[in-house]
Amino acid sequence: MNTPAETVYETTISHIGAYENKRVELRGWLYNKRSSGKIVFVILRDGTGIAQCVASQKDVGEQLFAWLNRLNQESSLIVQGIVRKDSRAPGGYEVGLTGCTIVSEALDDYPISLKQHGVEFLLDNRHLWMRTPRQRDILMIRAEIVKACRDFLHSEGFVNVDAPILTPSACEGTTTLFSAKYFGEQAYLSQSGQLYNEAAIMSLGKVYCFGPAFRAEKSKTRRHLTEFWMVEPEAAFMRFEEMLGLEERMVCYIIESVLDNCESQLREIGRDPRQLINIKPPFPRITYTEAVEMLTQKGIAITWGEDFGAPHETEIASEYSKPVFVTHYPTKIKAFYMQPAPDNPETVLGADLLAPEGYGEIIGGGERIYDYNLLLERLKEHNLPLEEYVWYLDLRKYGAVPHSGFGMGIERVLAWICGLEHVRETIPFPRMINRLRP
Ligand code: 4AD
Ligand code: MG
Repeated sequence: MNTPAETVYETTISHIGAYENKRVELRGWLYNKRSSGKIVFVILRDGTGIAQCVASQKDVGEQLFAWLNRLNQESSLIVQGIVRKDSRAPGGYEVGLTGCTIVSEALDDYPISLKQHGVEFLLDNRHLWMRTPRQRDILMIRAEIVKACRDFLHSEGFVNVDAPILTPSACEGTTTLFSAKYFGEQAYLSQSGQLYNEAAIMSLGKVYCFGPAFRAEKSKTRRHLTEFWMVEPEAAFMRFEEMLGLEERMVCYIIESVLDNCESQLREIGRDPRQLINIKPPFPRITYTEAVEMLTQKGIAITWGEDFGAPHETEIASEYSKPVFVTHYPTKIKAFYMQPAPDNPETVLGADLLAPEGYGEIIGGGERIYDYNLLLERLKEHNLPLEEYVWYLDLRKYGAVPHSGFGMGIERVLAWICGLEHVRETIPFPRMINRLRP
């Protein structure tokens, strides 16, 4: 049967179904193994899936059989074998092993054995933890979301213009800045590319930046990272209402892409796709003032003018099965650049989008001040060093236009879509108040 002329198909586990009764070659890592007498089940993973390869002493010879039996988890292998349909095997196919090359034998017992481990241990071993199927699935969904953001924005005519990471000034308040030494000058890691986006729209009309953002957040919550990724669209002449529509369409496009292309990953990680199917426009909208009334009626203590904390956001969002826009926040709790609402200047044309199921704010955005004098006044009120904002004020000096934009945090959206307990699993190498490694 093993004639020299027989073709060996190099393929990946995700594609073995196309090679039934043919001989394939797979390259990957030993995920697990089970022995029973004269048979050893080699469970191989290759980044595209998991395959059960069955080796019998009679087919592979005594030496290889013995070797497979003692091999450590996560040794790297190239296996050859015949693909057979088997409804009991993961993926519906099994590989009858005929040969195996050990590329590199794992030198020690693998730290992340297949039993339960504590979260801190897993995070300390993130470089290995990310190999596990669940973490791989989450990272695949993350990649799908990133792609969906870019595809969506391109389809709406937005041009990608990225912003610098090293900056001399703050965008989102001075209390969460990470400082960096910059050849004798004081620099900070960017909190948001927004201010630079506002310059770019005067050149390109509609732009977005997509990159890491840094916040020296002292908060140790399930929603906060010190380094996270944000996609930030901004458009000249776009007004507040139009921006809310854009946010809605973008979130729905992302959900649809994940449901179309990652349904199996959602199921694998235990997320029921039905939780997401009804996320369609329009999203409910309430003002900050209405939200305060709602909370008060529910017996939750809050006074007008106070910012919402996570419990408030969870309570508000629990009234809806879709994300909800909270608009018209008090001016004094929002960033310096927010445009006052024409009918009530104590509030701003700004909105947070709160995700359902307690995931909190996933998007923050609004219309920006475009009047030179008002912006100057706000910069002073916020005690910001005017010399660092001269260029930003220039944008109001030379052809200012009404404009709006928003920022969406990838990790928060991913945590919600996947139904995760904490954002630490949503990014390849999380950075949090107590974690800089690995
Ligand atoms: O609401 P934020 O602070 O808004 C801005 O930075 C604006 N300048 C964006 C813009 O208008 N271009 O942040 C936007 C989003 C939040 O809604 C949240 O999803 C995410 O960024 N985010 C965080 N994600 C993880 N960890 C943190 N510490 C985050 N802070 C904000
Ligand atoms: Mg915000």
